[in-house]
Amino acid sequence: MTPDSQALLARGLAQFTGDLPLPAGGLHAAVAVSPLAHAAFGRVETTAACAEPGVVAVLTAADIPGLNDIGNLFHDEPLLADKVVVCVGQPYALVIAESAEAARRGAQRVSADWEPRPALFDAREAFAAGALIQPPRTFALGRPDEVWSRCHAVVAGRVEIGSAEHVYLETQCALALPRDDGGLHVHSATQSPSVVQKAVAAVTGLPMHRVEIEVARLGGGFGGKEDQATLWACLAALAAWKLKRPVRIRPDRREDMRITGKRHPYSADYRLGVDADGRFLAYEAFLYQNAGCSADLSTAILERSLFHAASAYFIPNVRVTAASCRTNLPSNTAFRGFGAPQAVFVLEAAIREAARALQLSPHVLQQRNLLRDGDTLPYGMQPDRVRARACWQALENRFRPEEHRRDIEAWNAVNPRYRRGMALIPVCFGIGFTATLLNQAEALAHVYADGSVSVTTGAVEMGQGVHDKIRAVVAHTLGLTRDRIHVETTSTLRVANVSPTAASTGADLNGEAAHQACLTIRRGLAPVAASMLGVPVESVTFAENWISTADQELALSWESLVAEAYARRVSLSALAHYATPGLSFNHASNTGKPFAYHVYGAALIEGTVDALRGTGRIDRVSVVHDCGQSLDEQTDRGQIEGAVVQGIGWMTSEDIRHDAQGRLLSDSLASYKIPDLRSAPEMDVVLLEDADNPPGVLNSKAVGEPPLIYGLGAYFALLDAMSSLRPDVRPEYRTPMSSERIFTWLYPDEPV
Ligand code: MTE
Ligand code: MOS
Repeated sequence: MTPDSQALLARGLAQFTGDLPLPAGGLHAAVAVSPLAHAAFGRVETTAACAEPGVVAVLTAADIPGLNDIGNLFHDEPLLADKVVVCVGQPYALVIAESAEAARRGAQRVSADWEPRPALFDAREAFAAGALIQPPRTFALGRPDEVWSRCHAVVAGRVEIGSAEHVYLETQCALALPRDDGGLHVHSATQSPSVVQKAVAAVTGLPMHRVEIEVARLGGGFGGKEDQATLWACLAALAAWKLKRPVRIRPDRREDMRITGKRHPYSADYRLGVDADGRFLAYEAFLYQNAGCSADLSTAILERSLFHAASAYFIPNVRVTAASCRTNLPSNTAFRGFGAPQAVFVLEAAIREAARALQLSPHVLQQRNLLRDGDTLPYGMQPDRVRARACWQALENRFRPEEHRRDIEAWNAVNPRYRRGMALIPVCFGIGFTATLLNQAEALAHVYADGSVSVTTGAVEMGQGVHDKIRAVVAHTLGLTRDRIHVETTSTLRVANVSPTAASTGADLNGEAAHQACLTIRRGLAPVAASMLGVPVESVTFAENWISTADQELALSWESLVAEAYARRVSLSALAHYATPGLSFNHASNTGKPFAYHVYGAALIEGTVDALRGTGRIDRVSVVHDCGQSLDEQTDRGQIEGAVVQGIGWMTSEDIRHDAQGRLLSDSLASYKIPDLRSAPEMDVVLLEDADNPPGVLNSKAVGEPPLIYGLGAYFALLDAMSSLRPDVRPEYRTPMSSERIFTWLYPDEPV
């Protein structure tokens, strides 16, 4: 039996790209990176590097045979900097050597005649200076301007949301192998094989059919390898193509943290108007996104922020504008949630302020404004089968947040030191790539003569269990047990033009394509089975490795059917294409139906602040989440728990810091604190019952990103606990709520 990828991971047997053996004659590459945030240069000094023992070659922009550009959405990202560097850590030379150590030593000895230029690090400053990736965009609904004067209360304020490092287990990595025909085979740890293929082709000048990108599995991606694996694959490919030898590049943790982009920090101004009962009447926000030095995926991420500006609430009058601001930091990139969590944070902060103004619990406001069937979102879509209230209600029935609230108040009244707090967070997350063209997938299925099944799709396995989900779909469609099915590594030779495994759509798109491919094979096999059983084709069923008649009187094994079909020259292979139906979006009016459906849920987050030491911790998280009819419950629970913990880390302990020159200070896991087993809370995850989902594969729902949003509750739960100590002080909305912040907020007059 083929072990599934989860079992391999759990047993430590799973091989990542970096584990692939380097073939004989293989070389190692390392990058020389800019020490300055912004500088011009004329000449790269490589003599000292070339003299370093073991160094084989040093390449610069001038050595690139094709295009020196790896930008995906915009063309503003050179592979190797040419005449100007725009952030600390930007590669401007590539050193290739006999060992990784020699390559690194060589890279240290490359230099350039830097002429420093002024640099910008702050999104608002960049906005004021006109440094934008594209003009700001606005999503609007109703007429907010006409409503403000009718509001019972209007609250306004500012919010600062910090960045976060992906901390994928495996750092970025690529291994490029030259082929004897001049082509390239690149093993890349990427979420986007076709994007890498196109970029490698552009850089080397090869047509795409001479470049194979293969991905076995990623040691985590979390969005950090959606666009930013391209750099490493292109560097390895450039070196392999130039030197006609295998080349591996694999930054260590510190290099990876310094060079790659992170979650976009946002700064925002908001205004929320409510009536006396706490109903939302109008909402306005301006979001400043810190894009870093190049576009990367920033504009798509910005768009998703706009799509999720109203989160799981109905607000009749909305105007949200967002600007992608160009700064001199490494280019920020996709990270689980793709800009949605930042926008949701802004609204949740506004809700806390409105609750203070009305002297109501935030809970009451949240519940009162949850989305219903028939409500319109700020992009004109009226979602079907809205489950925001069903999840909230199920959370209330099961976990009794009102009782927790009373307990907490009673506790806080008599416990001066340990203060408890809580927060509720609803989720409504649109599923689909907002770039409509990406909502397509292909699957190739083969049934071999012994009855074993092989499936290749564009889905990249990164620990989220997409290959196991595809196996579940194939097993269901062909009536087989999962052990008969193998899901292959992702390769652009077997399946072409693949969309990134991102936007939580991996199982939806690739699973549906695999489903279609298997239906085609089954349609070919059914008449063979019918003739073998001597029954009409309609009465043939496929289940548990047997093909039988409806009444189960007659049966034949899957293996004997496959052998017979092969003997009768019936096709045992299929390639299927799936494109999500019914999607459209008008980029002029910013309205349409960009999503196939929405994922819903609600969570209760409880935390404690130690008022003496000024520390905080999250004690318990209770979730009701809508997975539709889950394809694999264990996997979905794992995704929800992992996302919640990742969100909590972002909100509480993970603090990205740069110095005044734009150099990353939090560049190791000693100075950048991610959650660990000790800090992870108790967790109860309940999957919403009776939740079918016709647009999803076999009625399931995507799961990967949405539950990260529950983690925002960590911030608000700690804030709630702190407010009980200083109820008169207006809270600040600035993430993370680290122990340092808790301490300085509690003891504003103490020197730190
Ligand atoms: N889970 C694990 N274990 N590792 C990952 O890298 N990435 C997340 C999520 N869950 C990730 C993960 C992100 S950002 C996305 S978009 C989805 O998985 C992608 O996979 P899917 O589309 O198959 O859900
Ligand atoms: Mo996920 S941020 O869409 O890779």
